Amino acid sequence: SIVSPLLRTGYHFQPPMNWINDPNGPLYYKGWYHLFYQYNPKGAVWGNIIWAHSVSRDLINWIALEPAISPSIPTDQYGVWSGSTTILHDGTPAILYTGIDRPSVNYQIQNIALPKNASDPLLREWYKPGYNPIAVPMAGINATQFRDPTTAWFAGRHWRMLVGGLRPGTLRGEAILYRSRDFKHWVRAKHPLHSALTGMWECPDFFPVGKAGVENGLDTSEYGAAAGVEKHVLKNSLDLTRYDYYTIGTYDNVKERYVPDNPTGDVYQRLQYDYGNFYASKTFFDPVKHRRILLGWANESDSVAHDKAKGWAGIQAIPRKIWLDPSGKQLVQWPVEELEKLRGKPVNVGDKVVKPGQHFEVTGLQSYQSDVEVSFEVSSLDKAEPFDPAYSNDAQKLCGIKGADVKGGVGPFGLWVLASADLAEKTAVFFRVFKDGYGKPIVLMCSDPTKSSLTPDLYKPTFAGFVDTDISSGKISLRSLIDRSVVESFGAGGKTCILSRVYPSMALGKDAHLHVFNNGETDIKVSKLTAWEMKRPLMNGA
Ligand code: FRU
Repeated sequence: SIVSPLLRTGYHFQPPMNWINDPNGPLYYKGWYHLFYQYNPKGAVWGNIIWAHSVSRDLINWIALEPAISPSIPTDQYGVWSGSTTILHDGTPAILYTGIDRPSVNYQIQNIALPKNASDPLLREWYKPGYNPIAVPMAGINATQFRDPTTAWFAGRHWRMLVGGLRPGTLRGEAILYRSRDFKHWVRAKHPLHSALTGMWECPDFFPVGKAGVENGLDTSEYGAAAGVEKHVLKNSLDLTRYDYYTIGTYDNVKERYVPDNPTGDVYQRLQYDYGNFYASKTFFDPVKHRRILLGWANESDSVAHDKAKGWAGIQAIPRKIWLDPSGKQLVQWPVEELEKLRGKPVNVGDKVVKPGQHFEVTGLQSYQSDVEVSFEVSSLDKAEPFDPAYSNDAQKLCGIKGADVKGGVGPFGLWVLASADLAEKTAVFFRVFKDGYGKPIVLMCSDPTKSSLTPDLYKPTFAGFVDTDISSGKISLRSLIDRSVVESFGAGGKTCILSRVYPSMALGKDAHLHVFNNGETDIKVSKLTAWEMKRPLMNGA
């Protein structure tokens, strides 16, 4: 049937049923990872939003607890929207979140909640102190576009936090800055930390990163070279495009200024955490493994009717470790190592040449719920197609034209995942190499779902990003996390990431196949491919 239960993901985060959106307030506390998230307890569409709450020892196996925050005070009675947690100086976590206080207009106000019992490692109960709200929209703030407070950071004598906004009467998205001495009274700074003509900034996130190439993360308040801070990252979720963009820059906590490295930054730089279906993400610092972890929401791209029939909608991407690339010009992401505990027996393929127009099937595992890592080697870059600079800022458009079935010089080559036996259904995740006017290779990574399903009326967007990697040696890697209706891919060790939702009608369960393909004119070698079936973790009791 069209809404097969086999489309429900096996190891991606989901509650047993209903709608979910943004990850909220992730943190590590007394032995447990906590994830809160926007949740509709009443159905598979957005609405009636509360903060649902799950805990985990390893970010992979999740236990559902009772909801943490529901509407209960005048300033959140019509909704408890996204927010973050901050660990205060005495070790207590505090939640900052957006409340809606009017029924028809979304009038947005920032609130605080604290644990009733901070000695409970599960942080089951939260209360809202009487001094709420902590920030209201005043002159210069658009009351209907004012939400999603960040984790606060401490500097000098003040806490600081950001709230996403849209300057009244303009298209200027901004990260509105607040300061507080006591975490109760918050004062808006004269200037936002940063802004750009992009439309509303939802879910801002701001954090330090260490030296280029160092994988260890830093706590949100770390500052200065002595603490190992190299740069700061500012991310925002653009309501208009539905992608999460970031800039890397320098933060001065005295002048209270953040300056992106790339002066043309912001809109044109187009650095995205993920070039696919990944939104409203948020990071937190994990003090146990000294890493910064990124969580993001992947919506369905199925119809609302199908979502309702399935009874669920939305997943969280696999938690990713995130750090500054050796180039210093971008971030790198990789699934947390704990995911590897779900791997079954490996299936290996080595030293296999795929000739132009050929493909081969990877057998010996059920690939509908799997983890696949491939190292490719391109035999020569001579036949790389000329790059049309008109597409410099539009990988997605380029990939829309040059999809997986359009023959190229070097590539398209990569994986066909969730493929039916007759290959009528398949999702292609692949690379294609171009050459600019100076002969420099340009690598494009695409996720092409146009053939992913024979079900009519599905939204099947092609997603793509450029990969800033040195392919002169011919080498490039790909990892894909395949999970029934999601394909989450990491190009070149996590330099370019693309998450796609797909809804096969035949390539379901045991009828899903995995192939390596080459539609270019140049031989491609699979130096090494390892594929693992993935076990099902504890998933909120489902
Ligand atoms: C992002 C968002 C946030 C808001 C929340 C409401 O997806 O629109 O800006 O707080 O979802 O559920």
